[in-house]
Amino acid sequence: MLNYTHEWVNLLIRWLHITSGIAWIGASFYFNWLENHLERGKTDRSGVGGTLWAIHGGGFYFLKKYEVAPPELPESLHWFKWEAYWTWISGFALLVVAYYLNARTMMIDPELAALSQTTAIVIAITSIFGAWFVYDGLARSSLERYPRILGLLLFVLFVLLSWGLSHCFNGRSAYIHVGAAIGTCMVGNVFRIIIPAQRALVDAMVQKKPRDAALGRKALMRSRHNNYMTLPLLFIMISNHFPHTYGHALNWLILAGISAVGIMVRYYFNIRHLQRSSVWLIALCSIIMIGIALMSAPARVESISDFSQAATSHKIPFHQVQGIILRRCAVCHAQIPTQAGFISPPLGVRLETEAHIRMHINDISRVAIQTRIMPPGNLTGMTEEERRMLTLWIEQQRGR
Ligand code: HEC
Repeated sequence: MLNYTHEWVNLLIRWLHITSGIAWIGASFYFNWLENHLERGKTDRSGVGGTLWAIHGGGFYFLKKYEVAPPELPESLHWFKWEAYWTWISGFALLVVAYYLNARTMMIDPELAALSQTTAIVIAITSIFGAWFVYDGLARSSLERYPRILGLLLFVLFVLLSWGLSHCFNGRSAYIHVGAAIGTCMVGNVFRIIIPAQRALVDAMVQKKPRDAALGRKALMRSRHNNYMTLPLLFIMISNHFPHTYGHALNWLILAGISAVGIMVRYYFNIRHLQRSSVWLIALCSIIMIGIALMSAPARVESISDFSQAATSHKIPFHQVQGIILRRCAVCHAQIPTQAGFISPPLGVRLETEAHIRMHINDISRVAIQTRIMPPGNLTGMTEEERRMLTLWIEQQRGR
């Protein structure tokens, strides 16, 4: 019953997380697009510096942007902050529900680091909040005046974080924690810098005092950082569907490459309206992506099969393979799993009967041989000999 409740809590929080995340990033993309597409003429007498016509959902919209601020504060002014806060709150709750409550299975890989559950959770939470303090400290320092150097330094630091975490946790949770760290910096920017700067702007208007230009500049810089962090963050959030990325031995490098591409794509869209020729950026991104794809391609399995010429000569009987899978996989991958914490076969993958095993032969090869993300943290203690046996059997089925 407890497990079943856990499953539903997970579902509800995940749903909330995705919904508020879309609302947040959607609004942020929209305003960014708006800013880049405003028709800017001369600022008129009421202070309007740009306008834009749009059609959406069967209606015409006419938007105006004030260069500084309208002469009077409107009665109702919409703020965009709860989308960001709820995304963070639900994201953190999801980390607890999906990872920390089951750290043994979801985070720890004893072959990488034999951490206790508590140590793993402490490292995880420290890395998330630590990232914000380091980031915020650097962004407040004198490096503020050198945005490109600051950007590069931050990128290097995030790669370092990802390298470090990939040596503590299994790939999947290393990735998700880099994502959590990036997301925390983004929400921290909204909570600590952007919203306070906007509040100061409104207060200055109400009190008819001059506004503090430095605050506005800082908020703009943080909002730019958020803009560039978005695509890497979104990749990380979907990465757990792609074990060939997080399950690779150099998973941190793959993450760095894909993030660099995300940042460049964002940059391309930011400067595109300036009509500067920047197609080379897209070419560069394509080259990097192809490079990553080649690098993360599964190793040819044949090399493993040389391990014993003798072994290749005899056919592996199915019952031997089934025995391995029942012992090492089916405790979770069964209609009614016997592994504590599981109430249904993960992702619907059942590996109980011959038909199931044959149906999933390619998936088994991908997750248990090429990337070795299964069994998670080798919880069921699958031996090298068993993996070899499985490899040989799969090769024999494929008629090599
Ligand atoms: C401790 C429980 C557990 C054990 C043991 C286990 N798995 Fe999994 N498996 C999971 C979980 C959890 C997921 C879902 C991961 C996710 O949500 O992406 C999963 C997902 C999968 C998937 C789908 C992933 C994909 O990308 O297609 C396959 C295939 C799979 N496991 C095969 C295996 C094989 C083969 C073994 C044995 C060598 C095994 N698993 C052992 C828990 C387990």
